[in-house]
Amino acid sequence: MSIIEKAAGKLEKEGTPSVKQAPAVPSNSGNELGSGTDNSANETLQGFSPTFAAPPGPKRITLNLAKMRQYGIVTPDEGRTQVAEQFRVIKRPLLTNAFNKGAGMIKNGNLIMVTSALAGEGKSFCTVNLAMSIAMEMDRTVLLVDADVARPTLPKILGLGTERGLLDLLLDEKLDMADVLIKTDIEKLTLLTAGKRHSHSTELLASQSMASLLRELAQRYADRVVIFDSPPILLTSEARVLASQMGQIVLVVEAETTSQQTVKETLRQIESCDVVNLIYNKARSFSGGEYYGYYYHEPA
Ligand SMILES: Nc1ncnc2c1ncn2[C@@H]1O[C@H](COP(=O)(O)OP(=O)(O)OP(=O)(O)O)[C@@H](O)[C@H]1O
Ligand SMILES: [Mg+2]
Repeated sequence: MSIIEKAAGKLEKEGTPSVKQAPAVPSNSGNELGSGTDNSANETLQGFSPTFAAPPGPKRITLNLAKMRQYGIVTPDEGRTQVAEQFRVIKRPLLTNAFNKGAGMIKNGNLIMVTSALAGEGKSFCTVNLAMSIAMEMDRTVLLVDADVARPTLPKILGLGTERGLLDLLLDEKLDMADVLIKTDIEKLTLLTAGKRHSHSTELLASQSMASLLRELAQRYADRVVIFDSPPILLTSEARVLASQMGQIVLVVEAETTSQQTVKETLRQIESCDVVNLIYNKARSFSGGEYYGYYYHEPA
């Protein structure tokens, strides 16, 4: 049993989060999501230009599913792959929590932030996969928000340019949400990019305007899941502020890399959110044999 498994077991025993495992996707050329110091997220990739429909109405793009698949992203035309199956299992409790109208109802349960302790653990990978997986549900819609405003990665994965987005909404009171949302050819998937870079982006994310925007998102889209890609918890302050306003958090833990102490400290930092789910990411099978395999962590 690895240190994280033990940690997760202990934490679960103590009444904290459940752990799901996302498999490591075999790497192939071009599936780097631009972690580390890559600041080129807003560049349009060669051969990966989205098609824009003419106005009126919200901007609409056609996603390049082939390119997304290269990043290891689940796409609707792909059928039952191992990764798709994993995210199907991972999303289920999130959806139950999001739309539970009974006694266990969670405040703003439809606001789900995907985060991690440190950089490069797989937040963006898991965010987009979760959003795609939920968008494939019959009766659910998804708004995918890039709240990693300092180092946005979603444009690269989804082939977006430098559209107006979250930061523009926070800065310009006259701007309406409908002006910046981007509809996609996946009917149930809508995007909100990080927006134009701003020197005070960190402060903006932790601002009162952001708090009221989140309230509006939670209420205006009560039948919709709003899923946020975000900065790492231990390396930024705004991620913690964001976390305190979410209904649910998905904490991505990189297998065999992130220490037990780091996970514990991160959980402590986000304890203001009642519902925290763990994804054990980039994991090989716990049995050591197979590369893939869903693993649901039972308390030890
Ligand atoms: N389950 C996985 N299988 C294979 N590769 C993965 C998996 N999860 C993430 N990766 C790869 O790991 C790298 C980092 O992933 P990602 O960009 O999603 O991390 P991040 O936490 O969003 O990073 P950052 O903190 O820089 O935003 C990428 O190259 C991505 O393709
Ligand atoms: Mg990221």
